[in-house]
Amino acid sequence: MRTPLVMGNWKLNGTKESVTALVKALLEPAAANSGVETAVCAPVIFIGMVEELTKGSALKYGSEDVDVHVSGAYTGENSPAMLREFGCTYAIVGHSERRAYHNETDAVVAAKFRAAQDAGLIPVLCIGESLEQFEAGQTTEVCATQLKAVIDACGIASFSKAVIAYEPIWAIGTGKTATPEIAQNVHAGIRKLLAEYDPAVAEGVRILYGGSCNAKTAYDLFRQPDIDGGLVGGASLKAPDFQVIIESASKTL
Ligand code: PGA
Repeated sequence: MRTPLVMGNWKLNGTKESVTALVKALLEPAAANSGVETAVCAPVIFIGMVEELTKGSALKYGSEDVDVHVSGAYTGENSPAMLREFGCTYAIVGHSERRAYHNETDAVVAAKFRAAQDAGLIPVLCIGESLEQFEAGQTTEVCATQLKAVIDACGIASFSKAVIAYEPIWAIGTGKTATPEIAQNVHAGIRKLLAEYDPAVAEGVRILYGGSCNAKTAYDLFRQPDIDGGLVGGASLKAPDFQVIIESASKTL
């Protein structure tokens, strides 16, 4: 039985005031819904604040990206060791916005996945197809290529300490959530691919759905056998909505 994971991805949003209010509002439900693991991924500048605010609570947190280097002359970057020192559990790697706006290739994403794991962070590997690829029926192939790049570089065993997020690009921030059937199909395909390498790893890894996952759509998505929770952007910025999403995961237990 995989523990559901509901993770917020705040992206480039927040102020000291809004972050404080949001985290405070999430502390109680995060502790109360004991069967669901809850986490928020924050802009790095807020991570120290999130560390203070979440002390002693069950709410976990992480970064939205991570550098491949441990230290050195890499102006502007944040190393996995630094994130770990500030108590991060997770680091998102390969988000489609990083792949698109920062030219992150599969090789770069695999290097980030490895660097995060080497520092003791749990990488959350995002994969997913564009609208053109979806319409051309290339979803399985695109996800397999993105996944295999990491399996080849880091080994299948590395997925026993990682999370995968299937995020169809056409669903991100568009309000067009993938139907539970579409998402379940892709998730089952991802698990099947992993099982060809190692059935036990495939069975244990959590595969989150992301892309306009919201208070209305979450429950039907999370009920699917291969959907183990969500990576939530827009709806994670509003405490009441995020709480409904957490509750949706807890109802599936
Ligand atoms: P969204 O973003 O929920 O706003 O669609 C999800 C994500 O990009 O992780």
